[in-house]
Amino acid sequence: MSADTMLEIKNLQKHFGPIRAVEDVSFTVRKGEVLGFLGPNGAGKSTTMKMITGFLAPTAGTATVCGFDVEAQPIEAKKRIGYLPEGAPAYPDMTPAAFLDFVGAIRGFDGAERAKRVDLAVARAQLKGVLHQPIDTLSKGFKRRVGLAQALLHDPEVLILDEPTDGLDPNQKHEVRELIRQIAPEKAIVISTHILEEVDAICARAIVIAKGRVLADGTPEALEKRSRWHYAVSVVTASAEVPRLKALWNGHPAVAAFEAVEGEGGLAMLTAFPRGGVPMLAELGRMAREAGIRIDEIREERGRLDEVFRDITGKAA
Ligand SMILES: Nc1ncnc2c1ncn2[C@@H]1O[C@H](COP(=O)(O)OP(=O)(O)OP(=O)(O)O)[C@@H](O)[C@H]1O
Ligand SMILES: [Mg+2]
Repeated sequence: MSADTMLEIKNLQKHFGPIRAVEDVSFTVRKGEVLGFLGPNGAGKSTTMKMITGFLAPTAGTATVCGFDVEAQPIEAKKRIGYLPEGAPAYPDMTPAAFLDFVGAIRGFDGAERAKRVDLAVARAQLKGVLHQPIDTLSKGFKRRVGLAQALLHDPEVLILDEPTDGLDPNQKHEVRELIRQIAPEKAIVISTHILEEVDAICARAIVIAKGRVLADGTPEALEKRSRWHYAVSVVTASAEVPRLKALWNGHPAVAAFEAVEGEGGLAMLTAFPRGGVPMLAELGRMAREAGIRIDEIREERGRLDEVFRDITGKAA
C-alpha cells in the first residue's frame, strides 16, 4: 500500500441470502483523488459504500481506512470517514441545528469546539436559511445538504458520498461540486452517481460496476477512448454532397463506418467512425478540400461517456 493511499478495498463481497449484491469489488483511493463510482440501479454501489463505512458487515473482503481495518478497528476507522448515505437523514423530527449539534456530540466535540464545527459545516453546506425547520419538512435538496453537513462535520480524511447531488437543482449541484473540488486536495473522496457529466466535472478517476463486479477503472478520458465516437469526425455539408464524401472517405484505411443525419435547409451532418481509434481529422479534411467538396463545419468527436457506460454495463446484463 503506497504512503498516500487513504482507502483500500479488497475483494469486498456481500450476499443477502440468495441475493448477491456485491460479488468482488477492489480498489484504492489516494489522497487528493475524487473517485466516481458508477453503475446501473442495483449494481451494488450503496451496498459497497455501507461496507466501507461499517454500516454493513461484509460477507468477505476488507476495507481499510488510513491503515485501519473497518471491521477490526471500527472506532479508529470511523473517526476518519464521513458518510453521506442514500436518501434523507435519519431523525426527521429534529431541526438541522439540533441534528448537527447531536452529531457533533456523538463525534466527541464539546462546547465552543462543537459550535465552531457545526457553524463551519452549516456554512459549507449552505444551510443557514433552514436551520430551525424540522428536517422532515425540508425539500429533497436541503435534506441532502443536511446529510452532507453531517458527513463533513468532523473534517474526515475519507468521504463516502452516495449520490451527493441527487435531488439538487442545477445551481445546488454546481455548488456541491465546487465544495467537493475545494476540499478534495486533502482528502480521498468516493462519490456514486448516475450523472456522467458529474464524473467529467469532478472525478479524476471512475470505476464502473455492474452486478457487484468492477468492469472498468480509469480516467474519464480513458473511458471515453473506449467509445466508438472517440476520434470520429463529424462534418456539416450540403446533403447532396454526402454520397460523394462517403465514397471519397471510404478510401481512407482508418474509416470504418458512417452515419448521416439530415438537417434543415439542405444541410446534413455526416460522421465518419474510425477503425481502432486512430485520429483522422486532418487527413479527411485535406481529402475533402482537394476534391473541392464544400464543408461548412468539421470537428473531431471526444468520445461519449454515456455510450461507453451503456456498452460496458449492458454486456454484464
Ligand atoms: N438489505 C438488503 N437485503 C436484500 N437485498 C438487498 C439489501 N440491500 C440491497 N439489496 C440488493 O442488493 C443489490 C444492490 O443494491 P444497491 O443498493 O447496492 O445498488 P446501487 O448500485 O446502490 O443501486 P442504485 O443506483 O439504485 O442506488 C440490489 O439487487 C438490491 O436489491
Ligand atoms: Mg444506491
